[in-house]
Amino acid sequence: MRKVSIVGVGKYLPKKILTNCDLEKMVDTSDEWITTRTGIKQRRMAAKNEATSDLAIKAAKEALEDAHLKAQDIELILVATITPDMAFPSVACLLQNALLAKNAVCLDISAACAGFVYALTIAQQFLASGTYKNALVVGAEILSSITDWKDRNTCVLFGDGAGAVVMSEVKSGGILSTYLGSDGSKADLLMIPGGGSRHPCSRETIDKRLNYIKMQGNELFKLAVTTMAHAAQVVLKKAGLECKDVDLVIPHQANIRIIMAMSKKLGLPAEKIYLNIEKYGNMSSASTATALCEAVKEGRIRKGDIVLLDAFGAGLVWGACVIKW
Ligand code: COA
Repeated sequence: MRKVSIVGVGKYLPKKILTNCDLEKMVDTSDEWITTRTGIKQRRMAAKNEATSDLAIKAAKEALEDAHLKAQDIELILVATITPDMAFPSVACLLQNALLAKNAVCLDISAACAGFVYALTIAQQFLASGTYKNALVVGAEILSSITDWKDRNTCVLFGDGAGAVVMSEVKSGGILSTYLGSDGSKADLLMIPGGGSRHPCSRETIDKRLNYIKMQGNELFKLAVTTMAHAAQVVLKKAGLECKDVDLVIPHQANIRIIMAMSKKLGLPAEKIYLNIEKYGNMSSASTATALCEAVKEGRIRKGDIVLLDAFGAGLVWGACVIKW
């Protein structure tokens, strides 16, 4: 099997900022509650004329430039998203067309907040086997389009954004191990009940607000902590490493208390955890993707570093990945 790594990173965050103070005017909440219970201070909101593919295109272009590759060099495009422009065609196909990446095979991955780690793992398989040479993997979401702006339990949590990476064969280092898991028995903890084939969009689904995110936050919180800690232990063991060997953890950014509880379980000091939740909230698959990009651009990840990606989300699904940078 060939060694595979990330050779370019990019991101795009919509310009509009929605602060906790803005939310105070929309629902019965407070900056104090949101900050202490979640760690979020603000989030980005896509403009009315922006769709998920528009965010993905900007992040992808930056990643391609960073990798010094042309769109024609890409043979696989995977977009992790739960907020595609439309049910079909895939965001990946729309992205291919915008980039003129005519040599790429394109598909979307639906694995909610673990989507980017899932997509990264799938792309790695295709590259390691030699099927394709270069892949573009994007996590892009407009969660504001599926958020119930009247529900204070959920509307304070989510934001919009996109992160992208280019993956290629490398001579040394790269992805050392990956681990994915799923548990469909807990699907009801986080879902959008309406708008699919079970309850197609109708006046009734709209009136009952079924086309928006429904979440049992408390239950998910506990599962997120234990599952992400477990995933980290499994993937590090597969790589022949221990927690102390990790230089930087890029966790999914759902709640700062989840991240800190998980780090405590693993005995990881706070300075080894990368956070961008304060600025962006939970952007599902775009959270780990943008966090990885920012960590690289800020110099928090240097050549030879051991980086751990760790994510958890609706499904339930979870995934972790160890990369030697
Ligand atoms: N502002 C003010 N009060 C709020 C609020 C808000 N935005 N949202 C909820 N509350 C209230 C609740 O109504 C409840 O009031 P009550 O005690 O009078 O009933 C109280 O705060 C506590 O609610 P609870 O749900 O127990 O809070 P919590 O500490 O569990 O925090 C979450 C809620 C959603 C922030 C937290 O559970 C969480 O982050 N869960 C996991 C999210 C997640 O991982 N998502 C999926 C993976 S991507």
